[in-house]
Amino acid sequence: MNILWAPDYPAMSRKAANIISAQVILKPDSVLGLATGSTPLGVYRQLVDWYGKGDLDFSRVHSVNLDEYVGLPPDHSRSYSYYMRNYFFSHVNIGPENTNVPDGMAADLDAECERYDRLIESLGGIDLQLLGIGSTGHIGFNEPNEDFDKKTHKVRLKQATIDANSRFFESADAVPRFAVTMGIKAMMQAKKILLIASGEEKAEVLCRSLFGPVTPEVPASILQMHPCVTVVADDAALSVV
Ligand code: GLP
Repeated sequence: MNILWAPDYPAMSRKAANIISAQVILKPDSVLGLATGSTPLGVYRQLVDWYGKGDLDFSRVHSVNLDEYVGLPPDHSRSYSYYMRNYFFSHVNIGPENTNVPDGMAADLDAECERYDRLIESLGGIDLQLLGIGSTGHIGFNEPNEDFDKKTHKVRLKQATIDANSRFFESADAVPRFAVTMGIKAMMQAKKILLIASGEEKAEVLCRSLFGPVTPEVPASILQMHPCVTVVADDAALSVV
């Protein structure tokens, strides 16, 4: 595991964006696994900036996002589908038909989960998976104490996750209780993983994930078993390490 220190959030974002840029430059038809949350915003901003300067081409890239809330339509301003269009997809030349986010509105969620796994397989797997980390140590929406070998599935969000994500909604009551998330299995099958973390509130969980026991109690700890993980974290997030 390669742990890269950055002094602050902007530097962390640039470093992580550099790694994604290198991936796309070296393999223009890359399959990128993409993440949401506040942490990757600076990464997307930086990629959009470099794209605007003519340095990047996403025309042959495919993307698969990690997760989506159950019950939020893609045009809901808090859905991850909306987030991705708003902050990234609509600002670069990735084909809309090449972008994928789980459908949290699907009438048959089990079928949707199966479709998503088949889709990832049909793309030949993920070349580079971008990950943030939740306060519970979750990656995607894989909450503590779930099996590591789960495929895409529906999850009930932990109260801590609902509380943490309530900042994006009018109140904690408005946060959906369920989500569809890519399973840890598909993430672990990605050729490379890029985990980003920023801020003191992530420091303890990041330290437990990178150096503690590998246990479903801390879902991100499984990353210790992946052969090619790069962690880019700012000084505050690395303050406990
Ligand atoms: C959500 C997402 C995760 C993300 C986490 C942390 O729960 N499902 O993919 O890593 O939030 O978000 P933030 O970066 O806002 O702290």
